[in-house]
Amino acid sequence: MNEVLLPPIDVVREILARYRLPWNGTHGLPHWARVLETGGRLARETGADPEIVALFAVFHDSCRTNEGWDHGHGRRGAELAASLRGDLFDLEPARFDLLYHACEHHTDGGTDGDVTILTCWDADRLDLGRVSITPSPDHLCTTAGKREETISWAEARSRSGFVPEIVTRDWLPTLETSA
Ligand SMILES: [Fe+2]
Repeated sequence: MNEVLLPPIDVVREILARYRLPWNGTHGLPHWARVLETGGRLARETGADPEIVALFAVFHDSCRTNEGWDHGHGRRGAELAASLRGDLFDLEPARFDLLYHACEHHTDGGTDGDVTILTCWDADRLDLGRVSITPSPDHLCTTAGKREETISWAEARSRSGFVPEIVTRDWLPTLETSA
C-alpha cells in the first residue's frame, strides 16, 4: 500500500473515546481503516482532497449507535467533526463544508457532486464486501472507483476482513489508553 494521508491521532483518540460499538464491528475500526486506504488510493487518481478523505474515514460512522439502519448517524458524525474543528483539527470553511456534506449524506446513495465528496462515498461503498455485497459500478461515483480492478481489490480485502496495520499499530493502543 502506498502512503496515504492519515487523520490526526488526537482526532482518532477523541472519536474512540466516544465510540459506543465494538471496535471490530461491521462499522468499526477495520472498516474505517479500509475506507482510509481505499480513499487514499482513489484520491491519487481523482484529485480529491486527501485531508478531507482521511477525516471522512474516521468521522462518517463514528457516531453510530447500532450496526444496522441507524438514522441520522451521518449527520451526528458531521456534527462531531464540527465540534472538534478548530481544536483537534482545522479546515477552512469551504473544505469543512465538503467534509460535513460527505459525512451527513454518505448513506443517501447519491452519485453527484464535488469530486472529494464522491471519492469519500466510493471509498465507503467499495467496502461492502464485508457484508457480502459486491459493490456495483452503478452505485459508485468516480471512474477510478468503478474500475473492475478497483472493485475486485477492495472487495477481496473487505470480504476477508483485512485489518490495515494502522488499526493495530496506532489506533487500538489509543483505545486501550482511553478506556
Ligand atoms: Fe462506512
